[in-house]
Amino acid sequence: MLETCEKHAELYKELDDYIESIKEKKGILINVLHKAQELFGWLPKEVQDYIAEKLNIPTSTVYGVVTFYNFFSTKPKGKVQIKICLGTACYVKGADRILDRFLSELDVKESEVSKDGLFSVHGVRCLGACSMAPVVLIGEKDFYGKVTPDMVPSIIKKYKEGE
Ligand code: FES
Repeated sequence: MLETCEKHAELYKELDDYIESIKEKKGILINVLHKAQELFGWLPKEVQDYIAEKLNIPTSTVYGVVTFYNFFSTKPKGKVQIKICLGTACYVKGADRILDRFLSELDVKESEVSKDGLFSVHGVRCLGACSMAPVVLIGEKDFYGKVTPDMVPSIIKKYKEGE
């Protein structure tokens, strides 16, 4: 359940303003979903229902689009998103062990948020840096190549310190 608070009221207001600004255009659903994900960090069911009502379209249409595109997230994410490449080149170099080490160090399940709300860990497809396999991407731009399980604690530490 998405908690209702002043902050969320502001986010809904900002989403309303955005919808208002583009409502004359066609095919705005994807743009609105992007905006909502940017504001809320993910797309809770309540937000998807809200968008369906605002755009006057069936909720099933909204759910369909959200589940079709993998850049939309229906689960909350941590402030720091850790993406472990599980593409072939990384996998053969032990990416599954890197993933397991991140999960155990952070005591979290894949795609769930750590208790402190700081981290979430996601297995992803090829990140396009196969020569550096196995690869980890933290946030949008921090790439780590040739990662070993023993490097994991020190990588995590950097982001804890920057809290
Ligand atoms: S398979 Fe991991 S970066 Fe390509």
